[in-house]
Amino acid sequence: MKDYRTKYEEYRSFTESILEEAVSRMNCHTEVLQESIRYSLLAGGKRIRPVLFLAMLETLGLDYHNERALAVAIECIHTYSLIHDDLPAMDNDDFRRGKPSNHKVFGEANAILAGDGLLSYAFELLIKECYKGVQWVNAAKTLAEAAGLQGMVAGQSADILHSGKPVGEVGEVELEMIHYHKTANLIAAPLVMAANLAEKYEKETREFGMSLGFLFQVTDDILDEIGEEKEVGKTLGKDKAEGKLTCVKVYGMEKTLSLRDSLTEKCLSLLGGIEADTCFLKDLVVDLRNRNK
Ligand code: IPE
Ligand code: IPE
Ligand code: MG
Ligand code: MG
Ligand code: MG
Repeated sequence: MKDYRTKYEEYRSFTESILEEAVSRMNCHTEVLQESIRYSLLAGGKRIRPVLFLAMLETLGLDYHNERALAVAIECIHTYSLIHDDLPAMDNDDFRRGKPSNHKVFGEANAILAGDGLLSYAFELLIKECYKGVQWVNAAKTLAEAAGLQGMVAGQSADILHSGKPVGEVGEVELEMIHYHKTANLIAAPLVMAANLAEKYEKETREFGMSLGFLFQVTDDILDEIGEEKEVGKTLGKDKAEGKLTCVKVYGMEKTLSLRDSLTEKCLSLLGGIEADTCFLKDLVVDLRNRNK
């Protein structure tokens, strides 16, 4: 068994190589669109969503090398969500992945179009896989639902709607709605997509993924308060400045840190419902709990 870091690096570097290949074949017709997509998609990042997809495929006994298109589609949708999230009309963030945000370099119109392009391209990739069988149709449906009106976009809408409101007027209910929708859906989707392809553990991967996604956004909220900008690669302290409805705002830092621990335990115990070698995924849960970027 390879150790956790080696295995993560294997999945991450595989993801980098298939993303580079995808960008080189995109043929965007205008150079500015090609460059702005390349700028954000190949800017690094943890690649956690494709890593989760590849790891769950292997956990369920499938060869991940055959599912490049789906892995690329997952990261394209995530990167589009980041480009749009940073726009002045949304979070107005100047830094992402350690570099100026897409709109700071290419302008707002190109940033909007780069996001639109990545979203459409992801569905092009997904649809082209559907001829392989109903498993791929189900995986495409999983990602569509997670990204869209019942998923990330709904969460982003609620995030904007509830920004600036005092605790009391909004609280736990709204916080959970936002975190489960804007983030947990796109963390759970890659795991469920792998289960769709394997035709088993769809319910278990969803439950595990939603809890892991909630944990992921809780750690994002914590890092915005107490992280290191150099590590995180974004301007920190923005959530408080903008009055965002974060975990820290609702519960305070101390309770948020203990929520992080109870969610970690919950994720580890949910993995027990999958009868396979889940060692890598268990280590990944702990790694995400401890992350500093
Ligand atoms: C940032 O996602 C947006 C959230 C959902 C918190 P990541 O923390 O996965 O960002 P990258 O891909 O590593 O840059
Ligand atoms: C954004 O949440 C989640 C997305 C759908 C992109 P945040 O707004 O907290 O993410 P960061 O902190 O900008 O990465
Ligand atoms: Mg946001
Ligand atoms: Mg943001
Ligand atoms: Mg954040």
